[in-house]
Amino acid sequence: MNDLNVHMVRRALPDWVPELRYLPETDSTNRQALAWAREGARHGSLVIADFQTAGRGRLDRRWLAPAGSSLLFSLVLRPMWDPDLLGLISLAAAVALCECLEELDVVAGVKWPNDVLLGSRKVSGILAETSPGVVVLGIGLNVTQRTFPAEIEGSATSLEAHTGRQISRLDVLRNLVLHLANLVDGPAQVIPDRYRRWCATIGRRVRVDAGSGSVEDRAVDIDPTGALILAGGHTVRAGDVIQLR
Ligand code: BTN
Repeated sequence: MNDLNVHMVRRALPDWVPELRYLPETDSTNRQALAWAREGARHGSLVIADFQTAGRGRLDRRWLAPAGSSLLFSLVLRPMWDPDLLGLISLAAAVALCECLEELDVVAGVKWPNDVLLGSRKVSGILAETSPGVVVLGIGLNVTQRTFPAEIEGSATSLEAHTGRQISRLDVLRNLVLHLANLVDGPAQVIPDRYRRWCATIGRRVRVDAGSGSVEDRAVDIDPTGALILAGGHTVRAGDVIQLR
């Protein structure tokens, strides 16, 4: 059900967001936000949709969500951070979401780098894409779904499925944007410490499938850029992590 409109979204958002584009249906809010960024969209500009026909996930995957079930939005960010630390933006988004869910008495965790989990199921995906001078931060958060397509059934959940409570997408949006604004307008150097508190991967045995092959080891920490450090000394900058028992 599409129960949002542009006025409701604008009223819910903090003034930190200078401009809003609300799209009942679009291909991908990240795609739209990148195009808008190239036209000069300001820091904090936000694109939100009720439905995406070509939602993009990490590692060339798709992001699927029935119309009106989720928060699907992208922020245009022009952070003052050292360019070498811009990879921390997506970790900051995971921190912002965990902190915001904690205020709703929902305990979340993060599978490195930025899959937000409730128990062992994924409730949110985060995709940061860059263009010169800009980062587009896309967040998909499952809110009301009670059933999932076969390919993600068993590994996905939503806020309502997990808690059994009704949760307002707009309340979550407002809080999440406030937490995010606070983190991206502050120093990048604090992100790794804030992230460690939520990271469920540190301390676990993992298998990492990176382009060059697969490594199995224990994850021990993240470095100042957000890369995952393994006990044997490997540093993983990107790739798919499987948390082993
Ligand atoms: C992942 O694979 O975990 C990341 C998924 C990111 C999905 C969100 S939904 C809003 C924004 N627009 C997109 O096309 N992708 C992101």
